[in-house]
Order: sequence, then structure tokens, then C-alpha cells
Amino acid sequence: MRAAARQQPGSRNVSETTRHAQEIYVSGLRNQHAVEKQAVQLLERQVGRLENYPEMEARLREHIGESEQQAKRIEQLLEAFGSTNSTLKDMGLQFMGNMAALAHAPAPDEVVKNTFANFAFEHFEIASYRSLLVLAETVGHQDGLGLLRQSLQEEEAMARWIDEHLRPTTLRYLERSASGQTAGR
Ligand SMILES: [Fe+2]
Repeated sequence: MRAAARQQPGSRNVSETTRHAQEIYVSGLRNQHAVEKQAVQLLERQVGRLENYPEMEARLREHIGESEQQAKRIEQLLEAFGSTNSTLKDMGLQFMGNMAALAHAPAPDEVVKNTFANFAFEHFEIASYRSLLVLAETVGHQDGLGLLRQSLQEEEAMARWIDEHLRPTTLRYLERSASGQTAGR
């Protein structure tokens, strides 16, 4: 917003401000594309290890499909700005990589720890989509508003599901672990 702050009302900097906002928007879309790829990896590592939590396995599998669609939506939006898939492949996000590593570590209580990581991940995505919506609005990108809202709603639904299942998941883990059964997966 630095360009906007410098701008005087009615000045000739309007197009520069718009171009600046567009750059931030496009780079935000690229970042979120990388996040969606990380989301798929994060979830794929978990779904094969949830034999005692079938409901969670089913919901995570569903969200893998949603995340793939969300990545495709972003690719579609980036096409309007001349971004190609080849530039997207090189993107990596250290922060999300670390969060994914947390979920990857095998632990006796992995289902519980993965729930924390998934909860954090979904809220990261919610914040990112909300911010992208502000940028789409600022640059007047109508297609972006529609598609990003759709993805945001999916992330919010997923975050709600994780929130609602934190208690039953913890209790099930506790019950299985107290009776000496495999508890964390
Ligand atoms: Fe997502």
C-alpha cells in the first residue's frame, strides 16, 4: 500500500497504484498455489495412516480433491495475467514445508498432532484467501472474486470440521491408548 499512501487525490499515479496492486495480487496467487500443493502432500501423508479414524480419513480424502480443484482455480486466474504453469512449479514455501514436516513425524499420538497441524494449515489458508479477495477487489478482478470466494468457503468448512472433531478425536485417542490398542493412527 506504499504507492497508495504516496498518491494524492486526483493525481496521475492511479495506474501505477493499480499496477502495483496487481503485482502483489499475482504474487499472492502464486504463493497460494504453492500452499495448495503443500496441502495435498500434507494430507496424502496422513490418509494412509488413519485406519482407526475412518471418518477423518474420508474427510481428508475429500479435501485432497478440493485442494486440487483450488490449485486449478488459481492456475485459471493466473492465466489472465500471463503466468504459466512452469513458473509455478519452482515455487516453494519454507514455512508451509515446516508445518508439513510436523505432520509427517511419526509419533504415538500422531492423529492428535496432525489435527493441530491441519487446524493451523486451514487457518493459514483462510487468511490467505481473505487477503487475496481484498486484492482481487482492489484490482477489480471479477473472476478472482468468484473463484477465490468458492475456495475460501471450502477452507472454512474444512476448518470447522477439524474444530468440531478435535474433541471426539482426542477422546478416541485416549480410549484406545488406555486400553493398550494402537491409538495414534
Ligand atoms: Fe486449500
